[in-house]
Amino acid sequence: MKDLITKVELSTDKPSRYEEMLSAIEAITENESNQITNLANITAVINVFFNFLWTGFYLVEGDELVLGPFQGAPACTRIRYGKGVCGTAWKEQKTIIVANVEQFPGHIACDSKSKSEIVVPIFAHGKVSMVLDIDSEKLNTFDETDQYYLEKIKV
Ligand code: SME
Repeated sequence: MKDLITKVELSTDKPSRYEEMLSAIEAITENESNQITNLANITAVINVFFNFLWTGFYLVEGDELVLGPFQGAPACTRIRYGKGVCGTAWKEQKTIIVANVEQFPGHIACDSKSKSEIVVPIFAHGKVSMVLDIDSEKLNTFDETDQYYLEKIKV
């Protein structure tokens, strides 16, 4: 595992890099049952492979999302159902790609450096149990390839 993460040579094409990231996530989570542990490691692995501005989970708690494990700057702690990009992905139960956060009505700015964003809902027993939120300091960072692979992450 140590070698897999510290000596990784990053593929230049995005699909290959995502395939390698998914293998690393599976390797690091398959023998661990603690979910917080796995979420923490998943954010760290995504960061190793892509070094986005911010990568983290928000966990459903009642009618709010609560900040979970993440990599990056301290972030907003609670997001209401239907609010911001995260709360909207939860409500609509689908991945949301935002090319320019300034053009998403109700976007919640935790960090003014964030310019584009993708939020992927994660399901347990048919309901959204958390969302994976990734922010980029560049406009228009995320596309269907990111969506395709990020939706494959098993927590
Ligand atoms: N931008 C998000 C809030 C979370 S931060 O990006 C970490 C949103 O609008 O829901």
